Amino acid sequence: MFSIESIPADHPTPSLLVDADAVRENVTRMQRYCNENNLALRPHTKTHKSVWMAKMQRDCGAVGLTVAKMGEAAVMANVCSEILIAYPTIGQARLNAVANLSKSANLIIGIDSKAAAEMIAQAVSKAGTQVGILVDIDVGFHRTGMDSLQETLDLAEFVDRTPGLELQGLMCFPGHLLPSSDATAWEKYAESMGVIVESFRNKGLCADIVSGGSTPTACLSAKNPWLTEIRPGTYIYNDVNEIRLGVATLEQCAARVLATVVSRANDHKFVLDCGSKTLSSDRCGPAPESGFGYVVEYPTAKVTRLSEEHGEVELVSGVAPAIGSRVTIVPNHICVCVNLQDKYWLFDNQEWTQMPVDARGLLV
Ligand SMILES: Cc1ncc(COP(=O)(O)O)c(C=O)c1O
Repeated sequence: MFSIESIPADHPTPSLLVDADAVRENVTRMQRYCNENNLALRPHTKTHKSVWMAKMQRDCGAVGLTVAKMGEAAVMANVCSEILIAYPTIGQARLNAVANLSKSANLIIGIDSKAAAEMIAQAVSKAGTQVGILVDIDVGFHRTGMDSLQETLDLAEFVDRTPGLELQGLMCFPGHLLPSSDATAWEKYAESMGVIVESFRNKGLCADIVSGGSTPTACLSAKNPWLTEIRPGTYIYNDVNEIRLGVATLEQCAARVLATVVSRANDHKFVLDCGSKTLSSDRCGPAPESGFGYVVEYPTAKVTRLSEEHGEVELVSGVAPAIGSRVTIVPNHICVCVNLQDKYWLFDNQEWTQMPVDARGLLV
């Protein structure tokens, strides 16, 4: 991991810094877990939105890439032709983008309604192409996903007989499950999925892909023998959420914000030039009162309040840094932080290089 001393004095702040070696280790560790547990890895690229990072994931063994948005899909298709859109592509602009990209990439889309299936089928038939479909099931997070077995089967059968759509299996997002969830919650996750997969097979419906996984659950995926693949995203950089959940260490947090002390009220309080427009206002999910990020050089500090361009920090011990000093901060939620930056600075082979956040702000 880079040291703060290795950052040139004229490096602009606030800026997002990424350590390439830490990224390589995170990418390799996740791929190794998948290889050892007979799972395919289809990393979610919403965390890094970077072509350079996606190439690394692909070269390390990912079977494809996951995106939420069609703009991200178009960017990532330059790196890998297998793209899972784990988001219902509703709306004419998205459907046009699906039709367009399906001419050059193998798209799979996760959907939870017949309406979505009809709209996508209509869009791709006009383009003379086809896309794969995963039926999105709700395994307990209660966001998207079907929660009735019969309706899930009805949708799968509809997809199966609709030209332009190829049923490839199921997906879910186990966002409610954490490493600390009790054994019953994990059993329920596996059992409910097993019922659906077996029902698919009994009816001759394709369940070749059963896609799940988030960063907190990724390395516990073997507890659900029905999964064929996982789609973690945050693991590439990690953040305070993952540290607090016990799935990452500080050293594994590969992306950090460099900030300058611009004001200092007293020995116990200072202000940084990074506010909500840099760090995002996201609180730490597992520890909401812990502040707005972790100040690496001042472990007892708490980022107590953010304005758009100010980050207020309070110290419980030690003395506040001098005006003009720099610190690095691990954000609570790195995915949102990355999407707020046009560029990031990559530290690789002892050199700093400015890199684009290629799919930044692509929300359609
Ligand atoms: C549908 C879907 N799949 C995968 C992920 C990746 O999960 P994580 O951010 O925990 O790595 C997310 C995260 O929001 C998601 O919404």
